Amino acid sequence: TASTASTAFDEAIARDQRIEPADDMPEGYRKTMIRQIAQHAHSEIIGMQPEGEWITRAPTLRRKAILLAKVQDEAGHGLYLYSAAETLGADRGDLTQRLIEGRQKYSSIFNYPTLSFADVGVIGWLVDGAAICNQVPLCRSSYGPYARAMIRICKEESFHQRQGYELLMTMMRGTPEQQAMVQDAVDRWWWPSLMMFGPPDAESPNTAQSMAWKIKRHTNDELRQRFVDMSVPQAAALGVTLPDPELRWNEERGHHDFGQPDWAELKRVITGGGVMNEERIRRRREADSDGAWVREAAAAHAAKGTS
Ligand code: ACO
Repeated sequence: TASTASTAFDEAIARDQRIEPADDMPEGYRKTMIRQIAQHAHSEIIGMQPEGEWITRAPTLRRKAILLAKVQDEAGHGLYLYSAAETLGADRGDLTQRLIEGRQKYSSIFNYPTLSFADVGVIGWLVDGAAICNQVPLCRSSYGPYARAMIRICKEESFHQRQGYELLMTMMRGTPEQQAMVQDAVDRWWWPSLMMFGPPDAESPNTAQSMAWKIKRHTNDELRQRFVDMSVPQAAALGVTLPDPELRWNEERGHHDFGQPDWAELKRVITGGGVMNEERIRRRREADSDGAWVREAAAAHAAKGTS
């Protein structure tokens, strides 16, 4: 019955046990997990676009090979995550449909343009750095298939972060023009990276319930602070300036104080008004229709059986 099911679920959560696909779970938990996992999967797949645009223009064979591997990893992450959503009863085709009809979200960060090759480095350093900060605690998320997917994803994200930082280190040892490209990319990506963690806690409708269910282990603001504290020494080692005049070490708090991102911009980008939203969805819709024949052929083959 519903009441014993919810008791077993509550006990499992209280004891920090994992919830597995066949376990009873409240409908709200299932819905929240599908929402978060689908949004995460969509982000990985849409996230292939901004950097994918640079594969044909990478400056060396080595950079091209690294970038190609990285973008393929993002596709893999999207696929594990769609599989995790399927364990909750979601249908992959339906999730894609919701994405291309604008009924499900994906991360705001992928709605900004990649204007120079330095953006590839900065996305690795800051965007993948923020993703790691957000996703390492998700390895302990209460839903088993999601938490386990996160372990491999985080390992690969850590390679992505390092390749980005190494690329930037190389450019910073280069010409003044290359150094200026890096600084320009940092100036454009810093604030959007802070927005990846979501709205401030006071304006985050889902955090309290997701923390109670141990889906999220930290609030949006806690993770944003952790990311700022982590990035400041890395920026110094690189020799770039983070574009925030309010950024300073606060001895008393043991953390950096920092300025607020433009929250109106985050809202605008989430609701479709970012520079690249239309293009990202257009491209995804095109890939979906270009691939329709492959799905149809695979389904027809499967229907014939194995004989
Ligand atoms: N971009 C787009 N949508 C966002 C963003 C963002 N940066 N931040 C928050 N939102 C959405 C939430 O999904 C939620 O939408 P919904 O309730 O309409 O579905 C709404 O804004 C309110 O936010 P919160 O109440 O804070 O939502 P939540 O508790 O889900 O926290 C967060 C948001 C932190 C992004 C969480 O869902 C999460 O940790 N997701 C997993 C990580 C992820 O998706 N990463 C993708 C980007 S990184 C990468 O893939 C490389």
